[in-house]
Amino acid sequence: MLQKPRGTRDFLPDEMEARRTVEAKLREVGRRYGYREVCTPEFEDLELFTLRSGAGIIDEMYVFEDKGGRKLALRPEITAAVIRMYINEAKVAPKPIRWCYFADCFRYERPQKGRYRQFWQFGIELIGADTAAADAEVIMVAANMLDATGVSYELKVGHLSFMKNLLAGLDPATQRKVMAHLDKKDFEGLAVTLAAINRSDLAESLTSLVACRTLDEAFAIAGAIPEKARIEETIRLLDASGLKYSLNFGIARGLDYYTGTVFEGFASNLGAENQILGGGTYRLAQLFGGDDVASCGFAIGFDRVMVSLGDRPKKKDPVVAVLCTEEGRIRALTVAKAFRDAGYRTETDLSGRGIGAQIAHAAKSADFAVVIGKREAESGEVTIRDMQSGEQVTVPLDAAVAKVAAHGAR
Ligand code: HAM
Repeated sequence: MLQKPRGTRDFLPDEMEARRTVEAKLREVGRRYGYREVCTPEFEDLELFTLRSGAGIIDEMYVFEDKGGRKLALRPEITAAVIRMYINEAKVAPKPIRWCYFADCFRYERPQKGRYRQFWQFGIELIGADTAAADAEVIMVAANMLDATGVSYELKVGHLSFMKNLLAGLDPATQRKVMAHLDKKDFEGLAVTLAAINRSDLAESLTSLVACRTLDEAFAIAGAIPEKARIEETIRLLDASGLKYSLNFGIARGLDYYTGTVFEGFASNLGAENQILGGGTYRLAQLFGGDDVASCGFAIGFDRVMVSLGDRPKKKDPVVAVLCTEEGRIRALTVAKAFRDAGYRTETDLSGRGIGAQIAHAAKSADFAVVIGKREAESGEVTIRDMQSGEQVTVPLDAAVAKVAAHGAR
């Protein structure tokens, strides 16, 4: 028996319904803030992803050559593609540009619960606003979106300039290595890396930076930071908005493009793969041949949010099964149309079996069975049975539709 590829999933209808419900909540928050949906190709030129991150990232991606010999990659994330699209299609559009997306990404990772090779991100990108208000807006959208899903989470906000200030004397590759240690709170690895370059003196300030939770402390540890006023203003706006978050100067973010404000969301009830959101400010446009425009955005790990939400019982709209004998088949079409026109999921019999067998089948999936036999076909009435209570009445069609409406969602 053939199986789906490793790290991918199939979604049955109940799960798809639950996913679409949560997706709609995210979309609605985006809409209310003015973020309009965009869509980019599932695959891009490999270069789009290696330009910033280097060839090292190839190991983590699905990379292939097409029949024309072009090197392509399935997108591992959407930000780079959105910025490429901005340069191609919307460079002259009035700023700021507010875009959102819901799209699948592909990463060649070791699969486990909450970590997949195909997964979905819901994200936003705010392009062309270089202010504290812009950073604060994006963080507010992030929190509002997570709130809308009902997930229980913690939001951590930081800024890369503190870490970068402390690491200013190191070459970029070592900086990246040190930041990766800090991001993972791998203090042993940090000590080894610093010792190897004779900079063990940095260990103490880096460790206390990761532990500190106030701006004043962070400024005291990291020294004079040019972005001080902007950082203070961002925090002032976040506080004024009543957002629940904590400051964390240990956030380094895995992707290489962030420039200043960074933030991450963590689900309270997930294990190792508990990061459900990541984002920050970045500048990618110039690297891709555009103007040096400031941007800020984030992506929510949609699948992790769904894992965190678990199987919540959801009210289901009533399902109507229209059953018929051969004499009733033509009238059944009209009856089914009336229920569908009223907005109900309506399934007609396709089996041609006897009414008894049809009712037994309907009992497995429908809330109401509407029976059209010879008598109903002639009289214009329908027999409707509530499958839960067993109550059955013969009434005019509009009264049957009203009965389903009165019942509402279960
Ligand atoms: P990221 O942190 O790499 O950021 O991914 C965002 C979120 O996607 C993560 O927080 C996580 O929830 C989810 N995620 C990542 N990998 C997997 C996986 N293998 N399986 C399931 N979920 C996963 C970005 O991608 C940036 N583009 C975010 C951004 C937008 N920054 C600025 N704008």
